[in-house]
Amino acid sequence: MRKHNIHFPTARLYAWYDKQGRDLPWRRRWPELAPAYQVWLSEIMLQQTVVATVIPYFLDFTRRWPTVNALAAAPLDDVLAAWAGLGYYARARNLHKTAVIVANEWGGEFYYSDNDSSLCDNDLDRQLRTLPGIGPYTAGAIAAIAFGKQAVVVDGNIERLFSRYFGIETPLPAAKTEIMMAYQSLLPVGRPSDFPQALMDFSSAVCTPKRPGCGNCCLATSCIARVKGFVERLPTKPSKVEKPLRRAIVFVAINHRGEFFLHQRPEKGLLGGMYG
Ligand code: ADE
Repeated sequence: MRKHNIHFPTARLYAWYDKQGRDLPWRRRWPELAPAYQVWLSEIMLQQTVVATVIPYFLDFTRRWPTVNALAAAPLDDVLAAWAGLGYYARARNLHKTAVIVANEWGGEFYYSDNDSSLCDNDLDRQLRTLPGIGPYTAGAIAAIAFGKQAVVVDGNIERLFSRYFGIETPLPAAKTEIMMAYQSLLPVGRPSDFPQALMDFSSAVCTPKRPGCGNCCLATSCIARVKGFVERLPTKPSKVEKPLRRAIVFVAINHRGEFFLHQRPEKGLLGGMYG
């Protein structure tokens, strides 16, 4: 693994974020921290879904169920119906499962403590990852954004920004470890909840996959890919494996009144839990 000269112009990133960062309904600016319920809900919705699509769903969910306890008390079918249109319904099932655990077993807080000693960052991360639907990325995002911890938060956009800034040519997904280590070593002490959010906004607004705005980029002078002239080639993706073509036969049963027969698919697998 290559060692990076870990310098990162965090102050310039924050100056950009202060002017051009997005105002999102689940977002607060340091030193204020957003409620963990809202951060968790938004992060689950944002997995595989773009911000513009998520906003109305987030507002609807938080109006109907303002707290994790309210969401846990809701019937699963209501939650699934409110989720309709966001896709990847396993997320909604896990959302409800997690709400029930947090409400009933963790006392309504996104961490629990067996005693009064203060919770260390590792405990928080470990506990969050035990919840359904919460992997390393989401646990890091909640720890940083809702609890102000210095956690590593690397999504696809940040991956692209860091591959370019540090000139990481290793193809993904192998490059992930290098990117995480780079992130870990430049974690700022100041404004830990703003850091990943500033990176996310900056990478989706300026350090875009195609035609990045290097001309206006406040990180450009120390960006290795920019200096070497190969920004658009990074991140290096593995060569595409051809996807197998699957053929299937579908039967539709309709009765004489034109009504369709529906059945609920098994929870696991393709389109899990959906009606088909
Ligand atoms: N994508 C995932 N989480 C996000 C956040 N907190 N802000 C902006 N975009 C995001």
